[in-house]
Amino acid sequence: MCGIVAITSKGGGGGGLALALVERLSRLEYRGYDSAGIALVLEGANASQSIYRARAAVASRSLDELKKHLDSAPAGLAAATTGIGHTRWATHGRPSEQNAHPHLGCATAPPGQAGQAGQAGKAGEAGAPRAYPEVAIVHNGIVENWRELAGELERKGHELSSETDSEVVAHLLEEELALTSSSSVAPAPPAPSSPPATLSPLAVALGRVAQRLAGSYAIAAVAAGFPTIAIARRLSPIVIGISGDAGGGTGTVMAASDIPALIGMADRCFVLEDDEVAELNGTAGGFVVAGLDGEPRDPVEITVRWDMEQARKGGYADFMGKELHEQPQAISDTLRGRFNTPEGMALDEMRLSEDELREVDKIFVAACGSSYYASLVGKSALEHWAGLPAEIEIASEFRYRDPILTGRSLVLGVSQSGETVDTLQAVRLARQGHAKVLAVSNVVDSSITRMADGVLYTRAGPEIAVAATKTFSTQVVAFSLLAMYLARLRGLLYPEEVTRLAGDLTGLPALVRAALDREDEVRKVAEELAERRDLFYIGRGAGYPVALEGALKMKEIAYLRAEAYPAGELKHGAIALIEPGTAVVAVATRGRLWEKMMSNISEVKSRGATVVAVVEEGDAETASYVDRSLYVPPSRPLLSAAVDVVPLQLLAYHVARARGCDVDRPRNLAKTVTVE
Ligand code: F6R
Repeated sequence: MCGIVAITSKGGGGGGLALALVERLSRLEYRGYDSAGIALVLEGANASQSIYRARAAVASRSLDELKKHLDSAPAGLAAATTGIGHTRWATHGRPSEQNAHPHLGCATAPPGQAGQAGQAGKAGEAGAPRAYPEVAIVHNGIVENWRELAGELERKGHELSSETDSEVVAHLLEEELALTSSSSVAPAPPAPSSPPATLSPLAVALGRVAQRLAGSYAIAAVAAGFPTIAIARRLSPIVIGISGDAGGGTGTVMAASDIPALIGMADRCFVLEDDEVAELNGTAGGFVVAGLDGEPRDPVEITVRWDMEQARKGGYADFMGKELHEQPQAISDTLRGRFNTPEGMALDEMRLSEDELREVDKIFVAACGSSYYASLVGKSALEHWAGLPAEIEIASEFRYRDPILTGRSLVLGVSQSGETVDTLQAVRLARQGHAKVLAVSNVVDSSITRMADGVLYTRAGPEIAVAATKTFSTQVVAFSLLAMYLARLRGLLYPEEVTRLAGDLTGLPALVRAALDREDEVRKVAEELAERRDLFYIGRGAGYPVALEGALKMKEIAYLRAEAYPAGELKHGAIALIEPGTAVVAVATRGRLWEKMMSNISEVKSRGATVVAVVEEGDAETASYVDRSLYVPPSRPLLSAAVDVVPLQLLAYHVARARGCDVDRPRNLAKTVTVE
């Protein structure tokens, strides 16, 4: 997940501001990143280089690489007082130096890519030359309308040099700033002795740019000639910190996407709310907050009592707890920008043409572990909406048999990491069989995405705990998107149906949040189960892969023997193991097969099992049949897995914690399995 740091201080860093930015970025490393960069305003430097930028894209070594760049930095850097930094987790465009933030506008783009630094010369809309002030920006979030904005900018003569959605912000900002600062390239800085009462042209311009952006953003921007930093926010967090006697104008003012970057430096913290802009003024030692229209707002102060370790985990005891609770946001991010595009729906890098996809007559899915279980959920969506037969295969089995692949087969390789060797080999086999290949992955430019003809990304952000949680639920969502996409192409869903389904998907994060809100109830049940040795999980239809996933979580993090069965299959053998007191976890939400499920629950109850069931809120009938109910809000059948899995994730999590297990690093397991 991307991280932002911005610092402006009165006295300059004594050469240390660039290093301070890198050091603060390193506190966000736990979020995962693939590239990093910083930009500093050089004061008193000549106009040919008023902004210094350094970037590196060598995965987790990028910050070290940035430090090396500083050895050859220009002399003016030592006096710099204002700068921004970013660690990038790729969402649009591969991880590369070119795509790393900060992004610059035309005025500061390298020669050959766009206008020369500080020179006038880009054609304005009417063909007149226009001078742009030098700007640099960092951005977290997704600019959904970036294609449209990039087209508009290119028509005005801007040259964009990256594959990112974020770069449009820099070009829009230089346009706005040129207008806002009444054609002055380097406006005078605000009064130095007290916090600025009003916004400078930089912040006004950023507010105007932000109003044009659809999607989510936390942005920090600097411009040549301004000893200030402008920030703006919608849906992506950004926190302001001040240190020293800020009111008296002696302190440092900073902003960061995450609190860990501020700990130890900021004495007081303030949050920026959605659709607000702020200007941080190190010279004056303060900041002002306003709406995007420039209307002043009161800053909202927050109390931070976390130490560094707590802050890295967002106040949760462990990463798994944090990631469980990130699921609503992860689902929203995975859905963002998919609908209402010029083509109707947008996947990420679909290099297969619509005609090629229309030719598909069968889908194979190869995946492992939780990705395999999410794919079992996806099978129903693919068959129901897209009307295509789908065979879901464990990747390590698929690659050693002789699947009947043709040029009309579509093979999906589903892997959150994109590096699981069994899944990669399955994809290789698919390529040899001349099948079309689509990757579903959480990691941009991972091996699987490079091997595939098309990619659909889950945008869950980095998952640090070994057990998959938010990547499972976002994979379920990704399958729905894919099934809808194929259904549209095959003429099986009318636009109104797509709109209705899009509405159901958009409502999913709220349902997942409601399920998470019942954590305390799940914890109590978990404490009762913590001393069991064996558990059975049962489900039918979409409830069966949910049962499989719930049992896998229980095995891997709580080390309990947990076996999942299709509920109707139990009587064909495994029911022999049920005896008084055996714990059976049942997915008993009101699907098509609810009545059958109730019969299966009766079968185990009559043999003395203690039944813990996932039950829909308000369903007193089911609750009265079972011993313990884990409530979830009702949800649409083909999407329900993302909601119904939540109490089972929480159950495993709290059983593991009650048993004193390390939930983030379970024994014998690795996050990415690169061996066969
Ligand atoms: C379970 C888990 C694993 C992974 C499996 C596949 O919680 O995390 O079962 O799902 O190793 O990993 P990816 O999806 O990275 O291919």
